Amino acid sequence: MKYENLKNKVVMVTGASSGLGEALARAFIENDCTVYLSARSKDKLVALSEELGDRAIPLSLDVTNTYQVYTAAERIINEQGRIDVWVNNAGGEKKSSLSELTPKLLNDITAVNYFGLVYGTQAAAEYMRKQKEGDIVQILSTSAFTSRANESAYCAAKAAASLFSESVQLELRDEGIRVFPIYPGGMNTEFFMKAGASLPPDSMEPKDIADIVLNALSQPRNIIVVPRIFRNSVKKSL
Ligand SMILES: NC(=O)c1ccc[n+]([C@@H]2O[C@H](COP(=O)([O-])OP(=O)(O)OC[C@H]3O[C@@H](n4cnc5c(N)ncnc54)[C@H](OP(=O)(O)O)[C@@H]3O)[C@@H](O)[C@H]2O)c1
Repeated sequence: MKYENLKNKVVMVTGASSGLGEALARAFIENDCTVYLSARSKDKLVALSEELGDRAIPLSLDVTNTYQVYTAAERIINEQGRIDVWVNNAGGEKKSSLSELTPKLLNDITAVNYFGLVYGTQAAAEYMRKQKEGDIVQILSTSAFTSRANESAYCAAKAAASLFSESVQLELRDEGIRVFPIYPGGMNTEFFMKAGASLPPDSMEPKDIADIVLNALSQPRNIIVVPRIFRNSVKKSL
């Protein structure tokens, strides 16, 4: 969908090398934005930017490295003069029972789903404060408020990221910065394969979730939409 007021926005998308991040990058480009595509897989980012054109700029980084995140924000400011939208989308998990959850695995899951989102929020907010305007999108999950066996570390990291996001939303609103916590359910991406799980039935398409995010961003600045997006087949009362 076209959202006229997103035209020419400068956008950073983390985790843009696949899945929802790639779908978001495509949607922002369709809306005539300049988009920085970030993830660890440089080759995938370069291939995607070649397909999407000059306004899609590859920027490889690891979101769990605060120095790399701040350096990326600084580069965007140096090249574009502003950051309008920062999407903290990078994430992932590996299914594990309590006894399989090694210190390294716990650290890896928490680092990408929680610390990475915090670092991105801090880096974006530092520059958006100076602009007195900006939007930070937090890709969370229904796992933030749903208990799931063998996914304790992932659910806990998303829950922490949720409360962090909803708290900083209150801190930043008086400075013109909107924080959008987004809670998607099961999407048809590489996520489940990487997690060692199978795709849930009736999975949603990432491009449809991307459109919901852009629609939320296109609302007047006194509105913050907080989408909780469930598959139609999910009948739980959440
Ligand atoms: N799929 C679902 O059902 C679902 C449901 C709810 C929420 N989510 C959330 O949606 C977001 C996107 O996931 P997805 O479904 O699109 O999965 P995906 O296709 O596996 O995408 C994950 C992205 O995160 C990047 N990434 C992982 N670790 C990173 C790191 N340390 N630094 C930088 N980038 C990193 C990956 O790229 P590299 O490996 O190249 O770094 C990839 O681009 C995640 O936050 C996930 O938790 C997914």
